[in-house]
Amino acid sequence: MSEGPAREHRLVLFASDNYAGVYPAVLASIAAANGGFAPAYGDDDWTLALQERMREVFGDVDVFPVFNGTGGNVTALATVMQPFEAVICAETAHINVDECGAPERFTGGKLVDLPTPDGKLTPELVRGALVGSGDQHHVQTRVVSITQPTELGTVYTPGETSALAAVAHAAGLLLHVDGARLVNAAVGLGTGLREITADCGVDVLTFGGTKNGLLGGEAVVFFRHDLAERYLFVRKQGMQLASKMRFVSAQLLRLLEGELWRETAGHANAMAQRLAAAAASVPGVRVAYPVQANAVFVALPAPVTERLLEDYRFYTWDEQTGVVRWMCSWQTTPDDVDRLASALRDAVASA
Ligand SMILES: Cc1ncc(COP(=O)(O)O)c(C=O)c1O
Repeated sequence: MSEGPAREHRLVLFASDNYAGVYPAVLASIAAANGGFAPAYGDDDWTLALQERMREVFGDVDVFPVFNGTGGNVTALATVMQPFEAVICAETAHINVDECGAPERFTGGKLVDLPTPDGKLTPELVRGALVGSGDQHHVQTRVVSITQPTELGTVYTPGETSALAAVAHAAGLLLHVDGARLVNAAVGLGTGLREITADCGVDVLTFGGTKNGLLGGEAVVFFRHDLAERYLFVRKQGMQLASKMRFVSAQLLRLLEGELWRETAGHANAMAQRLAAAAASVPGVRVAYPVQANAVFVALPAPVTERLLEDYRFYTWDEQTGVVRWMCSWQTTPDDVDRLASALRDAVASA
């Protein structure tokens, strides 16, 4: 590799976990699947094996590989709701702020986004938004969607997810989980994947891979067979049906095999803890949210952010409060973290 890209890599690495490369064992799984001809559109051995493995992990589920997280969320929601229905989500939810309105466009329904202190919906918040049921003038709430871990790096405990499922089900609604980083949440909680989904009453999940070392691939997972019945058609119409699906499935399979995800997410989360501890020790720097997965949010004085942005690329999350986001990935090294911490100390000292 030339000097240029290598240097650039150092500058952008905390911007997001999808700035990381492909995990070597995952890359090898793509090469291993490249042995010759295989049936297209999901009739291949890798997709069948993925279905089996997912059933071992999650229970009696139906699994559908897709290209990306936005497509997974949108097609999952479009399958379970009508255009006159609504999805309750946090104001900060990816479906609400980072999917360019795709959920509204493709489902035809409405997102009812609620402000939260930490990115997490609560039963009280959901109950308060359950209005207009049966009223022909009002959208009918159909889904509660949560992100696990949240866009603010916090996680729902199994108890919190179960409580949301109970409220949803009591009102005749479904619980959807945007699990772009579900494995980071499981590592943060010290649980398996089933304990934070099936065992809590989750109905449909968008299971993420790309943020944990895949070249590209996620899966929509239905925990009720009746909900999955229409998905094949929604996925195709929603342009998420991969013809060479074996390569998407092989990657997801590899992430699940031997629980490789514990390594990728475990490392990313550990790097986030290291970074949060270093940042918290710098005077004037406040860690804004509990660091429970692989994201670190800190409130910085504006001149400090400006100084750091000369060398690093990362997102300012809230202009008002000066909160910025640093993401760690399977590829972030302790040295990377220590360099950013040292740059932070220097920036604070010179600001
Ligand atoms: C919480 C969350 N959901 C879903 C996605 C999926 O995004 P994409 O469509 O880029 O794969 C992301 C990516 O940033 C995310 O952070």
